[in-house]
Amino acid sequence: MSMLPFTRPTLGEEELQSVREVLESGWITTGPKAKALEEAIAAYVGGGVQARVFNSATSALEACLFAAGVGPGDEVIVPAMSFVATANVVVRVGARPVFVDVDLNSRNIRADRVGKAINSRTRAIMPVHFAGLAADLDPLYALAGQHGLLVIEDAAQAIGTEHAGHKVGANGNPVCFSFHPNKNMTTIEGGAVTATDPAFLQRLERIRFHGIERDADGNMDVKAWGGKMNLPDVNSAIGLIQLSKLDGFNARRRELASRYLQRLANVPHLVLPADGPGHSWHMFCVCVDLNATGLTRPQIQARLEKQGVGTGTHYPAMTLFSLYRDLGNAPGDFPVAERIGRETLTLPLFPTMTEADVDHVCDALQQSISSEAA
Ligand SMILES: Cc1ncc(COP(=O)(O)O)c(C=O)c1O
Repeated sequence: MSMLPFTRPTLGEEELQSVREVLESGWITTGPKAKALEEAIAAYVGGGVQARVFNSATSALEACLFAAGVGPGDEVIVPAMSFVATANVVVRVGARPVFVDVDLNSRNIRADRVGKAINSRTRAIMPVHFAGLAADLDPLYALAGQHGLLVIEDAAQAIGTEHAGHKVGANGNPVCFSFHPNKNMTTIEGGAVTATDPAFLQRLERIRFHGIERDADGNMDVKAWGGKMNLPDVNSAIGLIQLSKLDGFNARRRELASRYLQRLANVPHLVLPADGPGHSWHMFCVCVDLNATGLTRPQIQARLEKQGVGTGTHYPAMTLFSLYRDLGNAPGDFPVAERIGRETLTLPLFPTMTEADVDHVCDALQQSISSEAA
């Protein structure tokens, strides 16, 4: 039986050809293709923003925090459930991540709980657009405005997502995207920031490449630390092709997700992910009421695997990792994030799947969570 993985990148002849062109061009690291990708991302996102590409979203987020001057003594508010990079980047710049619980259906940060987490040390709020569904941005920006905080959006999972009729990233605040192979478009590894403030963008460029600045004559100076976070042209060339296909990929993801939602609507013991306008459906994650099924998640995953269905677990509550327990978080502090961490199961979703594949996953899931299954 062939195995359906939970995700698979969609790469074709055009990507291969673009890589060949760069490899044969004599310039394979950051150069004209990276610049072209920045222009294409800015045009795609809209709103008159500029884009800067990075070698990962992790680098992009770190660079934004450094560029904003977030550091020791500062706090940054993050959701309790996300990929661990969301909290790790805060630790990386010497600041403290302060967690807020997420909503069970949207899996996004509870905007109504963020106010309580703000104090005199808070510098920024970092919402995540989980699985491609935009976070509840309006109240978050309102709070940020009231308290003089920066918002850095972790849109690692949300290239092509829309919020209030605009692409995520179009609002001019720093917004970070990932192009890791699991994401809706890929550069193999890679990321980008969109923003509008020219001084901020200039700081990002310097942080991205050794702190180097040059005067009009090309003389080099380094006034502040910078790292090595640039995206090579080989990756950028792949990104340019992927970006041109992104709306098609996302439309297909939405079709497949709608079918999942329809087919699973009446299956007992599941909490389905919330839908919403502008959702780009990076992943399709259900929560399974394990108590009701009398099964463990690994048992369910093994049953699914036997039927050719691969699954993922996105994500454990970050607050239960040793690093974040050592910062004072304890089991029970973030009950919804912890529940998602225990119960979540990511089902296959990628653009080349067929309707029959979705139906097969739904049938296999229904069987696998029933106690009679073999
Ligand atoms: C929410 C979130 N933030 C950050 C990252 C980090 O992205 P990258 O792998 O490009 O560094 C990811 C990657 O999965 C993510 O899902």
